[in-house]
Amino acid sequence: MNAFDKIRHATAEDLDQLVAMWAQYMRAHALNPAYRQLRHDALPTRRRVFHSLIEEATSTVFVIESGGGLDGMISCFLEENDPYFDPPRYVRIQTPFVRPDARRQGNLRRLLQAAFEWAREWEIEEVRLYTGADNMMANAVSEELGFEAIEIVRRRPLDRTEPDINWEDVLGE
Ligand SMILES: CC(C)(COP(=O)(O)OP(=O)(O)OC[C@H]1O[C@@H](n2cnc3c(N)ncnc32)[C@H](O)[C@@H]1OP(=O)(O)O)[C@@H](O)C(=O)NCCC(=O)NCCS
Repeated sequence: MNAFDKIRHATAEDLDQLVAMWAQYMRAHALNPAYRQLRHDALPTRRRVFHSLIEEATSTVFVIESGGGLDGMISCFLEENDPYFDPPRYVRIQTPFVRPDARRQGNLRRLLQAAFEWAREWEIEEVRLYTGADNMMANAVSEELGFEAIEIVRRRPLDRTEPDINWEDVLGE
C-alpha cells in the first residue's frame, strides 16, 4: 500500500469495478462444484446484490482505492445466528479479493481490519468468513489470520450429471 491507497466504503460508482473483481474471483473458483454453476445472468444479478450491500444499513463493502482504481474488496453483513446459539448475531465476511498485482502487501489484512472495526461498531463479538473447501490457499490464509473452521457444507447432485458452463458467455471474456 502506498501513500495514495486508502480503504473506504464502496459507493454505487464502484459497481463496475466490484463486478469485474467478482468475475475474477469466480474464475478462481471455477472448479468448485457449487460455485461453478453460474447462471447466465450472474453478473447483472451480482451487481444488484453489491448495490443492496452498499445501500443497506446492515451491510457494507470495503474497497482499497489505489491511484489506478480499486485493488481489492471485502463484503460484510450482519447475520442472525440460530435462535438457540450465542452470539445472537455475527458479521459475515464474504468475497475477500485482492488483485493479483496487489497481493502479499498486507491488503487483505487491511480489508479485514476495516471489517472488524465495522463489526465492533455494531457491538458484534464474532465474525465468520466463508471459504471454498477446495480453495487450499484461502483456507491456509484464513487459519493464518485466526479464523477457525466450524462447519463443512457437503453437496451431492442427485443425478450426478453436471451442466456444461460456457465461461466466455457468462463472464464475457
Ligand atoms: C486470498 C487473498 C485475498 C489474499 O490477499 P493479500 O492481500 O495477498 O493478503 P495479505 O497480503 O494481507 O496476506 C495476509 C497473510 O495471509 C497469508 N497469505 C496471503 N497470501 C498467501 C499465499 N498465496 N500463500 C500462503 N499464505 C498467504 C500470509 O500469512 C499473509 O501474511 P504475510 O504476507 O505477512 O506472510 C488474495 O490472494 C486473493 O484475492 N485470492 C483470490 C480470491 C480468494 O481466493 N479469496 C479468498 C476467498 S475466502
